[in-house]
Amino acid sequence: MTKLWGGRFTADTDTLVHRFNASIGFDVRLHDEDIDGSIAWAEALAGANLLTPAERDTIIEGLARVRREFRDGKFSIQPGDEDIHSAVERRLTELVGAVGGKLHTGRSRNDQIATDFRLWVMRACDRLDAHLTDLQKSLLDSAAGALNLPMPGYTHLQHAQPVTWGHWLLAHFWPLARDRERVAAVRWASAVLPLGAGALAGTAFPINREQLAARLGFHSVTPNSLDAVSNRDFAAEFLFAAALLGVHLSRLSEQLILFSSAEFGFVSLSDAYSTGSSIMPQKKNPDTLELTRGKSGRLIGHLTGFLATLKGLPSSYDKDLQEDKEPVFDAFDTLDVALPVMAGLIRSLTLRPERMAAQLEAGLLATEVADYLVRQGAPFREAHHIVGLAVRQGEEKGLALTELTPEDWQAISPLIGKDVAGVLTVPAALAARAVSGGTAPAALEAQLTLARQTMGR
Ligand code: ARG
Repeated sequence: MTKLWGGRFTADTDTLVHRFNASIGFDVRLHDEDIDGSIAWAEALAGANLLTPAERDTIIEGLARVRREFRDGKFSIQPGDEDIHSAVERRLTELVGAVGGKLHTGRSRNDQIATDFRLWVMRACDRLDAHLTDLQKSLLDSAAGALNLPMPGYTHLQHAQPVTWGHWLLAHFWPLARDRERVAAVRWASAVLPLGAGALAGTAFPINREQLAARLGFHSVTPNSLDAVSNRDFAAEFLFAAALLGVHLSRLSEQLILFSSAEFGFVSLSDAYSTGSSIMPQKKNPDTLELTRGKSGRLIGHLTGFLATLKGLPSSYDKDLQEDKEPVFDAFDTLDVALPVMAGLIRSLTLRPERMAAQLEAGLLATEVADYLVRQGAPFREAHHIVGLAVRQGEEKGLALTELTPEDWQAISPLIGKDVAGVLTVPAALAARAVSGGTAPAALEAQLTLARQTMGR
């Protein structure tokens, strides 16, 4: 087999080494980006008078044919194709003849792969953003539909204070808003053009890199050619954004798994998003959510694995960098399914308000009495202590806080009048938290509006 670099070699590569070295098995998915980069490069070469206009057009038309072969599933990878760059160039030369061999003038696979991969990551970011936006919409719709539906709020997974379904669900909206900002930042970091860096020292031809960058949708060019061919920060940042997004999906999954259990029963999953058991006929399992939770592990693994790959590398290109593609592709593929699956699951979720109401016991209102006492002038610490006593007395008598009589309250503290009953309700507890970001109806309306506004960007 003829290799791009075969000139100085007399013996063939060992078969196993060829397999070990080759990246075509996975970088074939960069074919569109490789062809986009090559078309722009052919134009840049013509701009520098290294190709005649006719040669440029022949090469560009040839590349368009290669692209069509990929699109139609007709491109046939040959045993000697080491990577996507050699495969495209080999086929181009077959189609247009020796002029195809001029395309690689002034370019190296080192700046080529860095360019292809950055382009791919930019496009992947766009797709993740679209998925994230759709998932956010599904959360907004569910939140808006039950904005003020009361449910217990938890800390330490213990009953804490009443909140609402809308409030709880919006708590999962904002992490995704931050994920979108992170993905946008990764896109920006990726959109710096390495092409023109050559193998490491910069191309020896007068290529207009700024024009090349603009043509390919990059906002600027890399300032140092050695850094240009080795910088994979954008890939690491992509993996971090993916891992943290995976963690957010995992936390949402975990909570929905709990909420859909018989013990909580706050929601039920639609049949389309659950699976059955092969042995227990009654089972409806939240496999979708469990898989989403589980897959966050591999996303984290991709990030840590890739950082380990990078840590010992000198500047400029080393083959270790070929290990950048698979984790990034897999992270993307994982989220490319997990995100729309989660959106569908949220859209088909059934809420069980009666099950939420059944858990709204009076203990959730203890803070209300303490706050009442504060409004009567008691220091909060003292108020907290007094209510603690009331809870204990109630427990001894088998009474909930809401069942204590005005006389009981008077005995506990002379500061507590009959009107305490007014604060000891779930609606009162919700309404009291009118601070921005709080669980009161008006605050939730404002939060919903804010959430919708962030979607408009
Ligand atoms: N397949 C290689 C990669 O993914 C392309 C660059 C090869 N460069 C080289 N000098 N062998 O990194």
